[in-house]
Amino acid sequence: QTGAFTYDPGFTSTASCKSDITYIDGDEGVLLHRGYTIGELAEQSNFMEVCYLLLNGELPTADELDTFTHTITRHTMVHEQLATFFRGFRRDAHPMAIMCGVVGALSAFYHDSTDIHDPAQRVIASHRLIAKMPTIAAMAYKYSVGQPFLYPDNSLSYTGNFLRMTFGVPAEPYVVNPVVEKAMDRIFILHADHEQNASTSTVRLAGSSGANPFACIAAGIACLWGPAHGGANEAALNMLREIGTVDRIPEFIARAKDKNDPFRLMGFGHRVYKNYDPRATVMQTTVKEVLGELGVTDPVFDVAIELERLALSDPYFIEKKLFPNVDFYSGVILSAIGFPTSMFTVLFALARTVGWVAQWNEMITDPDQKIGRPRQLYSGAAQRDYAPIGTR
Ligand code: SDX
Repeated sequence: QTGAFTYDPGFTSTASCKSDITYIDGDEGVLLHRGYTIGELAEQSNFMEVCYLLLNGELPTADELDTFTHTITRHTMVHEQLATFFRGFRRDAHPMAIMCGVVGALSAFYHDSTDIHDPAQRVIASHRLIAKMPTIAAMAYKYSVGQPFLYPDNSLSYTGNFLRMTFGVPAEPYVVNPVVEKAMDRIFILHADHEQNASTSTVRLAGSSGANPFACIAAGIACLWGPAHGGANEAALNMLREIGTVDRIPEFIARAKDKNDPFRLMGFGHRVYKNYDPRATVMQTTVKEVLGELGVTDPVFDVAIELERLALSDPYFIEKKLFPNVDFYSGVILSAIGFPTSMFTVLFALARTVGWVAQWNEMITDPDQKIGRPRQLYSGAAQRDYAPIGTR
């Protein structure tokens, strides 16, 4: 108990687990990672430092950060056989389908880091997953556009390395744009962890059975893909593009309010936030910075700003406490940087890997941890006798 928080005992009765990693106050729009606000981390930290914080519980000293970054950098290359694994997919496979398959297969390549009871192997698996996700994500993109894979360049930052592996080509040097690198790094921070969301809960449930960490993260990727969850960033930009112009916004707001219409405003609403998602605030500021730096004017951004303004003043959305979430603006930035919408959820998975890994480690080292076993409210038939087919 601290003066800053009053814990709701009733809430803990519905909690799926205890955790020290991330705290969300949905009513106040507060998001803390190990006690630090997402706003301060996004503004003052960097993704490698946030990864260290989530994994270890404290911000690193300069030496600790250097050692951690060096370790991650030295794990960014993937087994050469993995490249041939990609060649089994169709070129038009959705990159998230490739991520599910390739990450799930990592345990077939890294046998020396699958023993969940060996602390050293848990650390290596954790570092490998954080380090190799950018490489695998970039390979998924390259494979989809028919370009050659690029090996990691250890002279670059974690995020700069990812941008180069994604957008660079062997035929010419690739220069990392520092504004894009900073924006991408900030986007990774905003997506790093988020308490017990659907995909993190999936990772914990899979891990509670003793499955290896690579399989658990693959399960989290599969869950994140859904449009109600991590797939919302792709769906939100597709929705903004479908709206197209500001004058068509009222038509879509009316549809979102119509209970007979399954349409929902993608990037709006949240299971926990009943206030503005603090990540969306940072994301909107970052959109303005990136579009300005790249000299991009995207009418979709104007549609997003006006849609938010109209929705936030609409009695329906006010009553339902529906606000933009982390996915509402992210697609505008990612599109301006050059990613196709099919890569948006891959980027979410890349960033969320550290959160999944931190939560998996917390679960697996909990001495009281047991296999997860949710129960149900049974509403089926009462016990009855078997009826031979001729009597049915
Ligand atoms: C993420 O859990 C996490 O932390 C997830 C995440 C993370 O970092 O891991 O934050 C990432 O997944 C963010 C959410 C991304 N999804 C979307 O943007 C998809 C669009 N939003 C929704 O489908 C919806 O808001 C959910 C799924 C996110 C939440 O749905 P709920 O649980 O139904 O929300 P609710 O209970 O607050 O809904 C209250 C009412 C309902 O109507 P009634 O039943 O009361 O009549 O608002 C309605 C909902 O139908 N509603 C919407 C709406 N979201 C909720 N109506 C229109 N548009 C919407 N977007």
